[in-house]
Amino acid sequence: IRVLSVASECVPLVKTGGLADVVGALPAALAAEGVEMRVLLPGYPSVLARLPAAEMVWQADDLFGGPARLVQGAASGLSLFVLDAPHLYDRPGGPYLDEAGQDWPDNDARFAALSWMAARIGAEGAGDWRPDILHCHDWQAGLTPVYLKARAVDLPSVITVHNMAFRGLIPAERLAPLALPAWAFQPEGMEFYGQISALKAGLVYAWKVTTVSPTYARELAMPEFGAGLDGVIRARGADVSGILNGIDEVLWNPATDPHIAPFKEPRGKAKARAALIGEMGLSDGDGPLCVVVSRLSEQKGLDLLLAALPGLIARGGRVALLGAGDSGLEAAWHAEAEANDAVAVRIGYDEALSHRMIAGGDAILVPSRFEPCGLTQLYGLRYGTVPVVARTGGLADTVIDANPAALAAGVATGIQFAPATAEALGAALDRLCDLYADRTAFRKLQRNGMRAPVGWGPSAAAYATLFRELTTRK
Ligand code: ADP
Ligand code: GLC
Repeated sequence: IRVLSVASECVPLVKTGGLADVVGALPAALAAEGVEMRVLLPGYPSVLARLPAAEMVWQADDLFGGPARLVQGAASGLSLFVLDAPHLYDRPGGPYLDEAGQDWPDNDARFAALSWMAARIGAEGAGDWRPDILHCHDWQAGLTPVYLKARAVDLPSVITVHNMAFRGLIPAERLAPLALPAWAFQPEGMEFYGQISALKAGLVYAWKVTTVSPTYARELAMPEFGAGLDGVIRARGADVSGILNGIDEVLWNPATDPHIAPFKEPRGKAKARAALIGEMGLSDGDGPLCVVVSRLSEQKGLDLLLAALPGLIARGGRVALLGAGDSGLEAAWHAEAEANDAVAVRIGYDEALSHRMIAGGDAILVPSRFEPCGLTQLYGLRYGTVPVVARTGGLADTVIDANPAALAAGVATGIQFAPATAEALGAALDRLCDLYADRTAFRKLQRNGMRAPVGWGPSAAAYATLFRELTTRK
């Protein structure tokens, strides 16, 4: 089976979050299942720089305001198609934001072009390659099934929701300029309160909808999590499923990680811990060293952690945070670190430091208000860094809470709390401190986590089964 994966980011070429990790990992994971997956990406400068010998397979004089080419090549073990359209992608800044942190004003055209190209490849192939299925990720690829339908092409498509909070809203007057069909602009289609929603387009017109954990799949049907699209999810019924993300077990392996003093068991973490305390300039205490590696946004609940800090510090806990995003949260964390030598903060994006933090921590904190899957708690498990997580989305599906039954059965891997409030987080941190004080109990938690399955195996098989069903249904 040949699958074209359509996405706005992909590790190691361009990344702002877990979406890139997943898009970059799926092709190798699915190859083991007999699925050939290629990835279509926008031609950002960072992506084109990795494909100096790319071969042109298509070109046009005008794609939404300028000339465009489709090139094909390989980089970092990935087979790639890249849409090279300088008027849309050749600029500084990030994939979605300019250097001042504002959305690019033409994001609608930038990702409509990506989706249009995906549909073109689905309909007519690219070079000598033709996909059997289109796999679209998030709103940036959400218009793909509409463009396919507009071409009257009956090719199976799947949309995977990595985050329902980003609905890809586009003003209605952009319908004609983006070559979108008028028939789709209706409440049963891609219309959303008078605008176009690129995500809704995907949810309505893709053959199947998946999301990145079973719990988030259920949550999406609820108004609290559905961002106004929960009705669409309910209407799709059994077409919606949750397939848990895995992690790259080669990149995230404590026994071979080049960023740290490697270790194979919890006791071996001591060096990484001492190094992290030193690097972050923290004064050590009797309590757990808690780490956070995260985007700083409302979703991640790190304002709750600010409120819960005094209780943790009173018990000898320490906190090291690596993150970037919302300027208010950046400032608040920065101020906290200035005022308190039990708290250290690094603002920015730093892959190597993220490894040192996840290796050196005793616990990793993920107090998200919602979390489609979450990857850092999985890294934590693998590194014997006990996850303390809000019981939501993929966090609920990947961590076994140290409740009395799980402790008695010897299967606990971390701590869950609910609801996502500072009080409940504070109580969870108290439980963490209690467990940490009991060396034997804490080691057991760490060992269980290090043995927990966090790879792609079962999930790659689930995607392959879904793809196979779709091609036979056709
Ligand atoms: P989300 O995609 O919502 O941001 P995930 O937990 O799925 O959340 O994925 C986040 C990914 O980005 C992880 O690979 C994490 O290690 C990485 N990451 C987040 N913030 C930083 C940062 N400041 N520096 C380095 N890596 C980061
Ligand atoms: C999104 C979600 C995160 C998930 C990631 C990869 O960014 O916020 O929970 O792990 O996508 O699917």
